[in-house]
Amino acid sequence: MKVAVFSTKRYDQDFFEATNDRMDNPHTFVFYEASLDVSTVSLAKGFDGVCVFVNDDVSGEILKELNSYGVRVVALRCAGYNNVDLALAGKLNIPVVRVPSYSPHAVAEHAVALIMTLNRKTHKSYNRVREHNFSLNKLIGFDLKNKTVGVIGTGKIGASFSKIMLGFGCKVLAFDLFPSEELKEIGVQYVALDDLCMLSDIISLHCPLTQDTHHLIDQSKLNLMKEGVMLINTSRGALIDTRDVIQALKYRKLGYLGLDVYEEEEDLFFKDRSEDVILDDQIARLMSFPNVLITGHQAFFTREAMEEIASTTIKNLLDIEKTRTCENQITSSD
Ligand code: NAI
Repeated sequence: MKVAVFSTKRYDQDFFEATNDRMDNPHTFVFYEASLDVSTVSLAKGFDGVCVFVNDDVSGEILKELNSYGVRVVALRCAGYNNVDLALAGKLNIPVVRVPSYSPHAVAEHAVALIMTLNRKTHKSYNRVREHNFSLNKLIGFDLKNKTVGVIGTGKIGASFSKIMLGFGCKVLAFDLFPSEELKEIGVQYVALDDLCMLSDIISLHCPLTQDTHHLIDQSKLNLMKEGVMLINTSRGALIDTRDVIQALKYRKLGYLGLDVYEEEEDLFFKDRSEDVILDDQIARLMSFPNVLITGHQAFFTREAMEEIASTTIKNLLDIEKTRTCENQITSSD
C-alpha cells in the first residue's frame, strides 16, 4: 500500500523503515514533516492511505478531500482518536485504524517521573549543582509513602500507574465509569469523582478526551481539592480548563502541576520553537510558575512504544489492504 505519513520526525521514519524492511510485502511510505490540515491535505493525492498522529486534523472537511483523492484508509499511529470525525469516515466507507496500546507503562512511568521531579525538585538540583551551588534551601519534598493518590480513568495506563503508586506505599483512590475488579483486589478503592478530588494529595488523569470529559477539571472540581494538591495530566490537554488551573496556581490552591499535554499544543509541541516568540499567553503564564513542570507530549516516547507503534500500524495497513477489516478499526460507536 502507498501511504502518506504526516507529522513525522526522523525517529518516526527510522522505526517505520526498520520494521517495514523486515516485511515480505513492504508498504511504500512517503514521510512528510508537515501535519495534516487543510493546507497540506493535497499532499495525500495519489496515495492509498494516510498515516497520522495526535495533532493531525482528520475532521469532516479533510476526510471529504481524502475521499475525493481515493484514499482508502486512515491509520492513526496513536491510541486517542478525538481528532477524527469517525461518523463521516464511516459514511464515506474509509476505515480508521489505530494502535490501541503501545506501551501503557511508558505513559504511566512518565506520570511518575513528573510527580517525582515536582516533589523532589531534581530539575532544580541539577542546575544548582552544575553552578556549584550545593544549598538545599527550598528543595524540600515530601514522602510519597502513605499519601493518597487519585487516579481518574483506570484503563491500561491508569492501571499501570495505580500499581506503581501502590508500590510506593500510597493509598490509591480511583474513579472510572467501569471499575476494574483486578485493581480492587490489589487495594485500589473506587470512589465518586468529587470524593476523589476532596481526599487526594496527588491527582493523575488517565481517561480519554470525550464530550463528557472536556474540562473535567475546572474551577468547581479545583475548589473541592486539598490546598497544595498536585495535579498531573498525561492524557489530553482539554481534560483541564487551563484558565481555571492558572487561577488555582495563583491562589496556591494547586501546589504542583505536571503536564505532558496542553489544550492548545497543536502549534507548539513536537516542534523546535526556540527562536520564535511564543504568542500563546496561557502556556507562557504556566511556564512562569516555579511549581509547574511541562513536557512536550513525550510520555509515550520509549523505544518499546515506538517499535509497537510501527509494527501495529504496518500490520493494520496490511489487514485493510488484504481484507478491508482490522481488529484495530474504530467506528463512531466506539
Ligand atoms: P484505555 O481506553 O485503556 O482507558 C481509559 C479509561 O478511561 C477506561 O477505563 C474508561 O472506562 C475510562 N473513562 C472513559 N470515560 C471516562 C470518564 N468520563 N470518567 C472516568 N473514566 C473514564 O486508555 P489508555 O490506553 O489507558 O489511555 C488513556 C489516555 O491516555 C488516552 O485516551 C490518551 O488520551 C492518553 N495517552 C497519552 C499519551 C502521551 O504520550 N501523553 C500516550 C497514549 C495515551
